Amino acid sequence: MNDLTPTREQRTAALEGMGCKRKRVEDIRFTQGRGNYVDDVKLPGMLHGDFVRSPHPHARVKKIDDSEALKVPGVLAVITAETLKTVNLAWMPTLAGDVQMVLADGKVLFQNQEVAFVVATDRYAADDGINKVIVEYEPLPVLVDPFKAMDADAPVLREDLAGKTSGAHGPRKHHNHIFEWTVGDKEMTDAAFKKAEVTIKEMISYHRTHPSPLETCQCVCSFDKIKGELTIYGTFQAPHVIRTVVSLIAKLPEQKIHVIAPDIGGGFGNKVGAYPGYICAAVASIVTGKPVKWVEDRIENLTATSFARDYHMTTEIAATKEGKVTGLRVHVLADHGAFDACADPSKWPAGFFNIVTGSYDFPVAHLAVDGIYTNKAPGGVAYRCSFRVTEAAYCIERAMDILAQKLNMDPAELRLKNFIKPEQFPYHSALGWEYDSGDYHTAMKKMMESTDYTALRKEQAEKRAAFKRGETREIMGLGVSFFTEIVGAGPSKNCDILGIAMFDSCEIRMHPTGAGIARMGTKSQGQGHETTWAQIIATEIGIPADNIMVEEGNTDTAPYGLGTYGSRSTPVAGAAIAMAARKIKAKAQMIAAYKLEVHEDDLEFDIDGFRVKGLPEKYMSMKDICWAAYNSVPPGMEPGLEAVSYYDPPNMTYPFGAYLCVMDIDVDTGVYKVRRFYALDDCGTRINPMIIEGQVHGGLTEAFAIAMGQEIRYDDAGNVVTGSFMDFFMPTAVETPHWETDFTVTPSPHHPIGAKGVGESPNVGGVPAFSNAVNDAFSFLGSTHIQMPHDFWRNWKAAKELGAVA
Ligand code: CDP
Repeated sequence: MNDLTPTREQRTAALEGMGCKRKRVEDIRFTQGRGNYVDDVKLPGMLHGDFVRSPHPHARVKKIDDSEALKVPGVLAVITAETLKTVNLAWMPTLAGDVQMVLADGKVLFQNQEVAFVVATDRYAADDGINKVIVEYEPLPVLVDPFKAMDADAPVLREDLAGKTSGAHGPRKHHNHIFEWTVGDKEMTDAAFKKAEVTIKEMISYHRTHPSPLETCQCVCSFDKIKGELTIYGTFQAPHVIRTVVSLIAKLPEQKIHVIAPDIGGGFGNKVGAYPGYICAAVASIVTGKPVKWVEDRIENLTATSFARDYHMTTEIAATKEGKVTGLRVHVLADHGAFDACADPSKWPAGFFNIVTGSYDFPVAHLAVDGIYTNKAPGGVAYRCSFRVTEAAYCIERAMDILAQKLNMDPAELRLKNFIKPEQFPYHSALGWEYDSGDYHTAMKKMMESTDYTALRKEQAEKRAAFKRGETREIMGLGVSFFTEIVGAGPSKNCDILGIAMFDSCEIRMHPTGAGIARMGTKSQGQGHETTWAQIIATEIGIPADNIMVEEGNTDTAPYGLGTYGSRSTPVAGAAIAMAARKIKAKAQMIAAYKLEVHEDDLEFDIDGFRVKGLPEKYMSMKDICWAAYNSVPPGMEPGLEAVSYYDPPNMTYPFGAYLCVMDIDVDTGVYKVRRFYALDDCGTRINPMIIEGQVHGGLTEAFAIAMGQEIRYDDAGNVVTGSFMDFFMPTAVETPHWETDFTVTPSPHHPIGAKGVGESPNVGGVPAFSNAVNDAFSFLGSTHIQMPHDFWRNWKAAKELGAVA
């Protein structure tokens, strides 16, 4: 060894593997405006499609007259449900086991529903065309309030389901009922409530909102009549699933469908499902023989593609006088809109909402969810959350604060008293999950120490006294939130989509010069997979991350996978990547043993190559092994160095975190100031701390938006009144608070590299932290629970109703 020989630290650093704050490689093209998004796809002879949409939330469609539209220069065709019936595509199956109209078939069921698809030579002509389509409607009574959906005299929405007493998830109780889903032990839970010294009960609503990614949903469909092949470029979070669904519903052989998801500008669950635009563009391309592009505008995206939340959760906790929880009972009224198009694994009609026991050791619990139809847009996607987990976390975190208030206990102390203890892991929850690992007390105490929680409470007490003396008009709130997520769908025993098990995949192919390409079934929408997946491979096989190209989103080249949503990429594909890399490493070890003339067992892996145990100078780098794989493999061994892994995880992963929000609210104006926001996340092994921080910042910003104003609101007549960014709160850097981030590391015991997901965590933990801060502030004026979103007006109204404003 001379002075120029790199040290172990230098060799490790050169790999830019796991734990390194590697800069995002994809940002080189994004920051230079060189991304390749769907709307950048321009094919020769391409046509454009646009929708005629219903102004009515519920109406019979009496007649569609397209004669004037067809006279508009450039308009080539007007597709209606009648056209689609000729190819048996007027209705499409949803991921939740329901069916959904592609184009209005006899009636419309929500405002802005797709009624006809106009195809033209350019977007402007298509738009002129839609204005000339005359649709005759007969308005019907409208159902907006979910609490009235199952009244005896509630309007019948889904006439296609008339007489159907059961659906995909069991019996239906009413013509607007979709399913009832129950989990837990009702008898034991009822008994716990009978014996309880203290109980709380509150209806906690998580309002309807929308993922609203920067780039809306869009596609280009191109049918080659000669080859009988359909190529679809689209904003797809799960390209392989889209290929299978298209094959099943369009009856096209799957090998003749090519789905390509190019760069995607944010998904947040919005780009998981199949939308009428995809079907209409595909049909239009098959009919015209030309490529057809469909690009949603912002209003269409907000009002017609998948919404999120809309859960109304009546929540009860039983406890002892000392604050030990003894039972949890939750009933949810889930407003699914006009069709049940929830994007959940097939067997889970309410997603993983049964994580609602949260981070607490509830001995018994019972949950019932009723899904219902209303005259609202369909959907119910995991907007920065893993399948209804954010609703569950909000429910339990608000309820724990309400219990603390009733017991006159500090909310942090109440949580510490009820946490699942480290020695209880793996922990079996009363509602059926096996939590893999956690150390909640350490995380909570770190949060309390880092923020000087005790001093903040003291300051709050002083401020409250000053308010009473009339010296200030500001009230101060401390929002504590401690969440446990469940991410990584999922084990095939639990999770499938349309019968396809939710595994994920990775294929790695090493080239002779020590570089390689890796392809996965996942699809990044901004999460930085091209950067982090290469880091896992770098650490596993000792090749620099810069030498590994990551490619996702092309169903012809990537191995089959179930896509990216619900923080599942790291728990599932991340594991597949490590497993594929380990297969490469195992073959590399055999090649190195042959070249170094020793037995495989005499070799040990050493950062970037193999070394003979006890003879450190006998070493072969992975780079040299790659070369050898193509010219001098051991006799009988196939040349080349590549591997594929399909990973079916044994369990989900359970990230967690402790958050604190410090807020001041002016009672006279309702204006709030987020003074501090501290977020401690534990996502197990951290692949790229910088990307994690970015994920946390983004998720917290969305949590801030949702808790403090972002809402899809309908008026009593069923009109969407928040259909553009003029009314739908989309925070900019100006409103967004400053985020303080922190972490602990509790690896997942079953994941090959110990990593858990993180993308959704800040949204799951952030929303209750904001809402608890507002509610904590107002609790001093005598309130128990104020529903979200907590915008200025609602804060002022609350202050007025509580008598703080004249
Ligand atoms: O499925 P999705 O990519 O949305 O979520 P994720 O698995 O939580 O990953 C989001 C990003 O954070 C990816 O680039 C991951 O590689 C990164 N990450 C990380 O660096 N370390 C973790 N323990 C978890 C995620």
